[in-house]
Amino acid sequence: MEFAIRVATEADLDEIFAIEQSSFDATAWPIQMMAYELSPSPTRNYFVALDGEKIIAYAGISVVQGNHADVMTIAVEQRARGKGLGRKLMNRLISVAAKRGAREMFLEVRADNPVAQNLYRSLGFEQIDLRRGYYQPEGIDAVIMRADLTAKVAELAQQAIREPLVLGIESSCDETGVGIVRGNTLLANVIASSMDAHARFGGVVPEIAARAHLESLQPTLRQALRTAGVSLDEIDAIAVTNGPGLAGALMVGVGAAKALAVATGKPIYAVNHLVGHVGVDVLERGEVVTPTIALLVSGGHTSLLLVRDLVSDVELLGETIDDAAGEAFDKVARLLVLGYPGGPVIDKAAAEGNPKAIRFPRGLTLPKDMEKHRYDFSFSGLKTAVARWVEMAESKGEDFSVADVAASFREAVVDVLVTKAVAACLDNNVPRLLLGGGVVANRRLREVAAERCEAAGIELRIPALSLCTDNGAMIAALGAQLIMAGHEPSTLDFAADSTLSVTSIQTS
Ligand code: KG4
Ligand code: ZN
Repeated sequence: MEFAIRVATEADLDEIFAIEQSSFDATAWPIQMMAYELSPSPTRNYFVALDGEKIIAYAGISVVQGNHADVMTIAVEQRARGKGLGRKLMNRLISVAAKRGAREMFLEVRADNPVAQNLYRSLGFEQIDLRRGYYQPEGIDAVIMRADLTAKVAELAQQAIREPLVLGIESSCDETGVGIVRGNTLLANVIASSMDAHARFGGVVPEIAARAHLESLQPTLRQALRTAGVSLDEIDAIAVTNGPGLAGALMVGVGAAKALAVATGKPIYAVNHLVGHVGVDVLERGEVVTPTIALLVSGGHTSLLLVRDLVSDVELLGETIDDAAGEAFDKVARLLVLGYPGGPVIDKAAAEGNPKAIRFPRGLTLPKDMEKHRYDFSFSGLKTAVARWVEMAESKGEDFSVADVAASFREAVVDVLVTKAVAACLDNNVPRLLLGGGVVANRRLREVAAERCEAAGIELRIPALSLCTDNGAMIAALGAQLIMAGHEPSTLDFAADSTLSVTSIQTS
């Protein structure tokens, strides 16, 4: 059976104390001392082993100035003994200690407990001393043991490059995202969205978004660490979105990431939000197959990228010259009085409508535009056309079908997006298209992209929706890719850059 190990919190006190008492009887710590041990501290790390939700073992260390570590306590519930839990917890303590730079680790164990001594010996501990009558009131001797962690420190340093544990922070728009990955493996993807706070304005309000990030960052970070079951000390590196996006919103994430990096001494990687949308594919596929064209469509951006190499060669083929695709959905939903965010409500309304009912303009697709703006997008003309059409129908007192307007509008957006993306693939001889951004939730976009890619012999990649919308996991994933490719960390001099170019994958 697999037992999960996670970081212990103060909320675990009662369960831990019950095991402490039944394991140590007279020598058990008083509950106040146990509570103190579990309180947040820069020097202590406590972990619990779980059987389902129930705590069945715990252990803790104290690390002194990255120099040496002491095992404070370790106990396994009676019924759960003999299942290798002690070994598992000890291994976790050893690796945290080594990760924090401890070169040696000490523990004391009862002289009348040979089973525990054997376990510690098998983990590399050796007896260095004997304290007579240490355990009172029985007067049992304590065997003092020591393990040399030098080899472990070196091993973990290697692993931090081979398969780094990276924390990613995203705050470029209205999602506060914190993700944790180990190499290409997703461990946590926690998102707090301030979307509801923007609903009455019909679009993201930068100041509200920035304030919401401030409020959400700490709880989101805590939840992500909890979900991943790791402590901040175990993280190898921090990655953060430094652009493009809303300046005030970006600043919150960048400030938090820098503070964390300074406080923990961890390396920091400032990464590009758009490239993050592409990099997220490693979490499902194990790699980003390149070259690939990427179409990124959200409330904040509409970009077509040619990705020759994820960590070193990304080219912007085109982007919107006015509204983003998601923004167009939001604005049209507003004028049709359907609500916010626009994408889902238009999708719903369009389900009953005829997409051919009204021929709305396809921005920048005329032959002359296709010369100058082949891969660029424009949606403000479309939005105006929808507004005019509705006004006209209303002024004539006509009863029109909102479903038809929604379906026809959606068809126009989707048609342009897919036409240009497929053209980018064919022009550049790239048989791959990756979609990203919140608009990817659009049902019609998925359908049309699938049909036309299939017809053109293009492989279509659409990550899970939770990875398509803005999130911290994609930032962590890109950070991990940079580390695994041997890139140096960023210095602390980088700033939030709302117009960061996509060619700047990492800001040094
Ligand atoms: O990536 P995302 O979550 O982040 C921001 O840009 O904030 O994208 C949100 C955008 C909104 O504009 C929303 O209207 C749009 O994605 N969206 C959709 C759909 N679901 C969300 N657009 C079209 N169809 C959808 N089903
Ligand atoms: Zn985005």
